[in-house]
Amino acid sequence: MKKVGVALLGLGTVGGGTYQILTSMKEKIKQTEGVDIDVLYIIDRNKDRAKKFGLDPKMISEDFDAVLKDDRVSIIAEFFGGIEPARTYLLKALKAGKSIVTANKEMFSKHWHELELAAVEGNAGLYFEATSAGGVPIIRALTESMQGNEILSIQGIVNGTTNYILTKMADEGRDYLSVLKEAQDLGYAEADPTADVDGYDSMYKLSILSSLCFKKRVPIDVIYREGISSIEKIDIEYGSRFGYTLKLLAIGKMNNGKIEARVHPSFISNDNPLASVKGSFNAVLINGTNVGDVMLYGRGAGDLPTGSAIVSDIVFCAQQTKHKVMRFGRVNVEEDFEDDFECEYYVRMNVVDKPGVLAKIAATFGKYEVSINSVEQIAAKGAADIVFMIHKTQESAISKAIKEIKSLDIVNKVNSLIRVL
Ligand code: NDP
Ligand code: HSE
Repeated sequence: MKKVGVALLGLGTVGGGTYQILTSMKEKIKQTEGVDIDVLYIIDRNKDRAKKFGLDPKMISEDFDAVLKDDRVSIIAEFFGGIEPARTYLLKALKAGKSIVTANKEMFSKHWHELELAAVEGNAGLYFEATSAGGVPIIRALTESMQGNEILSIQGIVNGTTNYILTKMADEGRDYLSVLKEAQDLGYAEADPTADVDGYDSMYKLSILSSLCFKKRVPIDVIYREGISSIEKIDIEYGSRFGYTLKLLAIGKMNNGKIEARVHPSFISNDNPLASVKGSFNAVLINGTNVGDVMLYGRGAGDLPTGSAIVSDIVFCAQQTKHKVMRFGRVNVEEDFEDDFECEYYVRMNVVDKPGVLAKIAATFGKYEVSINSVEQIAAKGAADIVFMIHKTQESAISKAIKEIKSLDIVNKVNSLIRVL
């Protein structure tokens, strides 16, 4: 039986879940997978975490050099989070021939290329299933099961925290901040939750997933990003009147040889399969030229779901005799990426309630070839909330129209602009 020594970097949410699965499933993994995995080191600066897992605090140290020097350790699994020291530790490990498993999507999406070069240099493996959509095995599906397709699009709910918040706001009429606190307590949120609510976490995941889909490195700086922190309950309510559910979507598309990549709140029709994905669940919908639509659904965050993805990578890595290296084409930002896109839109604004107001706003939309599908006015004293549904138009066109509308003296505020898919 192949014996495999593992070091865990971090014993927080993901590290804790991983440790629990590796210990509780040790015998089962030996029997079914033919590898005997031992956790030889746990690196964490917080020794108190040992208690929760019935571990001797002496088992936890901060001595990464000891891990590097120990020939029994062949796999290092990282869940510190942040860029440093994770990046430096993993580069050193790979160059020393130790394989890496990571959940750290921020570091991975920003430093994938150099990690891969180090993996080649050290003849080591680089595995990252847990970086994208937690427990959902989307990376393995894209790398091992879609070779008979060109992938045309990927659309996903890839952040558990924001999906949890939007679900509770819609179903229970709760406000944003109280639900965010709950998601943090449940271990879904990042250390700094702005990474979740401002869409950075989804952007890191989309960078990784769309690179795998389109076989070209999709850097984070070509991804349009907008989060949910300015979403108001009232927009979710108005949207539902039109038969829409609000989701934070990560979208990647191949259009005439150009990649379009964006993260933003999106109204989707209630009968879209992604609309029924609730709570911290994630789902990813891929469209391939030959298979058509494929959807994967599961828990996108939390200790055991993410630990499940990490353990799967550790087992897979331990079973390889030669590690596979990704190959990506070179990218040229101007030639390969689309910087504009087409959508329908929901626009809510507060305006002065007097004759001629609607005509002025409609004329401004018209000036930029933006066509109104429907208008609903909710009257109030002296001012009115108006919701416009806009036909499919270019993002660049509606941006110009909204900029001019904001400057009209009859418009008090443009409260929200939400893309409708
Ligand atoms: P936690 O904060 O729960 O755990 C991280 C642990 O690592 C903490 O105990 C932390 O100590 C320790 N640590 C961090 N840096 C160091 C260091 N330099 N030296 C020693 N110990 C260190 O984070 P999570 O487990 O939630 O997340 C870890 C990673 O996994 C992140 O990259 C995250 O994006 C990713 N991830 C998280 C998921 C989740 O559901 N939570 C799901 C998928 C991926 P201290 O507490 O003192 O900071
Ligand atoms: N903070 C992330 C989320 C963890 O809420 O989805 C999983 O990557």
